Amino acid sequence: MTDLLESPTHALLAADPDWWRQAAVYQIYPRSFADSDGDGIGDLRGITEKVPYLSSLGIDAVWLSPFYPSALADGGYDVDDYRDVDPKLGTLADFDEMVEALHGAGIRLIVDIVPNHTSDRHEWFREALASPKGSPARARYIFRDGKGENGELPPSDWVSTFGGPAWEPVGDGQWYMHYFAKEQPDLDWTNQEVRDDFLKTLRFWSDRGADGFRVDVAHGCAKDLPEELPSQAELDALERTSGTHPLWDRDEVHEIYAEWRNVFNEYDPPRVGVAEAWVDPERRSRYASAEGLGQAFNFDLLEADFEPQQFREIIAFNLAEAAGAGSSTTWVFSNHDVVRHATRYALPPRGEDTKKAGNAWLLSGGTDPVADVEGGLRRARAATLVMLALPGSAYVYQGEELGLPEVADIPDEARQDPTFFRSPGVDKGRDGCRVPMPWTTSGDSYGFGPAGAHLPQPAVYGELSVEAQEGVAGSTLEFYRTALRLRHELQTDETLDWIESDPHVLHFRRPGGWHVVTNFGTEPVALPAGELLHSSGPVEGGALPGETTVWLRSAE
Ligand code: GLC
Ligand code: MG
Repeated sequence: MTDLLESPTHALLAADPDWWRQAAVYQIYPRSFADSDGDGIGDLRGITEKVPYLSSLGIDAVWLSPFYPSALADGGYDVDDYRDVDPKLGTLADFDEMVEALHGAGIRLIVDIVPNHTSDRHEWFREALASPKGSPARARYIFRDGKGENGELPPSDWVSTFGGPAWEPVGDGQWYMHYFAKEQPDLDWTNQEVRDDFLKTLRFWSDRGADGFRVDVAHGCAKDLPEELPSQAELDALERTSGTHPLWDRDEVHEIYAEWRNVFNEYDPPRVGVAEAWVDPERRSRYASAEGLGQAFNFDLLEADFEPQQFREIIAFNLAEAAGAGSSTTWVFSNHDVVRHATRYALPPRGEDTKKAGNAWLLSGGTDPVADVEGGLRRARAATLVMLALPGSAYVYQGEELGLPEVADIPDEARQDPTFFRSPGVDKGRDGCRVPMPWTTSGDSYGFGPAGAHLPQPAVYGELSVEAQEGVAGSTLEFYRTALRLRHELQTDETLDWIESDPHVLHFRRPGGWHVVTNFGTEPVALPAGELLHSSGPVEGGALPGETTVWLRSAE
């Protein structure tokens, strides 16, 4: 650790407190990235071995999904111990080595922190089960008496986010609450011990070199459960925009993050936070305030159709909101929870009605009706080139730089996601975006590891592998590399000006004469003047083809 702190790169990294504002962040889902020890599960040493690859992409930071000890009831978001590494993934020494390698390559590290719930194997929960009703051990979680003569009925009819009941009996007339799987009991954040312990965890990883935290379900931690619980129908009828819903996005949740901010600011540069908060867009900036986590995920483009008016409104709104909060916004098209965008854009647009149904469609994992694979990738690349030119930070999810599609045909018996089991079977779940990375064109598990992949990889993974695309002009991998390298050269301040254009075209300018033009239509339009820096697809003869984005440099 001492060497690391004294190394010139570390000093260089340490110098900039604003590094996050326009960072390109690469999300690693560790179990599916690279398996170094051949146990079939990706691990921390696998990441360390791939640091040259990460470096070649031109990213600024890695966001690492949970790597803590876990039974994997929810892919690691069921944490047994917040201050250790899952033995299946390595050791704390492996973590230190990984940090050193990343920092040595000029790459920061954001770790995932899961405060809403622990796993049911966490020592606190075991203690709660072994302790009587009303005990301090139970007070760390949300226990309630069941209804009926002997508490044999749940305290309310609430449905968990993953389907099925949100309460689980413990055998003595009491039940505990879980938003997600039953292996993920919710913590009670009014409990001082809970609050203090998370501060300890934040310091633990900050001291070990983590540069920031992605905060899981940040909008869910504060709850206010009245004696007489409302029914699910009553909950559904409540608006979520006043800060007073009993379960979601309550105003006092920000008291938690104000405490976290004090810890972040103990470090130089201050540690950063980014909230996963699926809230009303108007309420997002509360999470992003400088007194709170500092930044929040903005999923608006991810939920939008490939359509210029939607893109423009969303971009303008989020830039203004983030600026108002003193923050910068975040952009993302793919992550470990949603259908990969190369496949989303291969499906017909959803229209307003489906949008009103919420984000369940994103988790469906299906490609029904049959996907337009080529068009999906074309539109995904065009959208990505917009994202990488926007002010704010941009999140790239492992494998999207290869143009990986969602794997929709995973056999039921191979599925792992609890949403599949709890729905039951109605929702295919999120395994299709979590299939292990293909590194080589052939071989067992396409180079993921010697023991095969823990989710089946489709045959197309060979031709989409890193090996197949490396150095190939026009490949999606080289397209991302060029975009990320140019982004570094071109990004200066956080301003953007709109340029009025054809109704199918989105055109904006960033400082330094950097023009970003997307033709969302299918017919070619005239290419604006300027030097062609990059494009999402082939561009010839002065025309901008349909579903294509270009970056141009021009004097105006
Ligand atoms: C977040 C994670 C998701 C997880 C859930 C419960 O939404 O991104 O993967 O299942 O929280 O922790
Ligand atoms: Mg392994």
